[in-house]
Amino acid sequence: MDRIERWALVASGVLMAVFLVALVYAATRMKITVPTCVTDVAPFKEGRIIDKGNGRYEVHMVAKMWAFDPPEVRLPPGAEVDLYVSALDVTHGLYIEHTNVNLMAVPGAVNAARVRFDREGEYSVICHEYCGAGHHLMAGKFVIARGETGAPKEAPAVAASPGQQLFEHEGCNACHSLDGSPGLGPTMKGVFGRTVELQGGGTRVADEAYLEEAIRKPNATIVKGFDPVMPAEEHTDDDVRTLVTFLKTLQ
Ligand code: CUA
Repeated sequence: MDRIERWALVASGVLMAVFLVALVYAATRMKITVPTCVTDVAPFKEGRIIDKGNGRYEVHMVAKMWAFDPPEVRLPPGAEVDLYVSALDVTHGLYIEHTNVNLMAVPGAVNAARVRFDREGEYSVICHEYCGAGHHLMAGKFVIARGETGAPKEAPAVAASPGQQLFEHEGCNACHSLDGSPGLGPTMKGVFGRTVELQGGGTRVADEAYLEEAIRKPNATIVKGFDPVMPAEEHTDDDVRTLVTFLKTLQ
């Protein structure tokens, strides 16, 4: 055997031993666990935060075009979280800044990781897998602060209406602003009663029937200057009514 060949074999052997030691050290001393695909948790469609007591929490995170559900998770410092991630429509990614959580969110599958939040502050959650036109808008956050319990933020002085909560919960706000600022979709400010110019000519008045159609069949008509990128989702009649009622208030 050539001297250089022998040298290369020894070097790669040493390198493998170093990797093995590093792996064992990370797993036992640094308590870093490898993200896993779990098979004993059924895929879920709703986000949930479950308080298991003693500072332990279980978070079910659902990724969908183009939002995370729950969009915001509020926990106390020291919270130890078992994070389960699934997706509704296409494959998304989930990265939590300042942590080593970096998972794929796959429809029909559940991926899991354990993470501990010691430092107070905000941790952005971003989607790192290209998932369509709104990919760059897809974000959520963990807020770690004393006194948080995993329960959704207490109602602010002026509580958001059920319609606004639904609008945010469904992720509509990822693309449709409420204040007139531009987005992937038209702003909802003053939408009710507006005369809408359509792609390919023609106009529609944004009355109740139009708004309902635009929610149920987003791509039946496209507003001029926008792309047909809004995902069609199943909505109950109640939800559609609540959303339309909310949109009518945005004058
Ligand atoms: Cu979801 Cu990119």
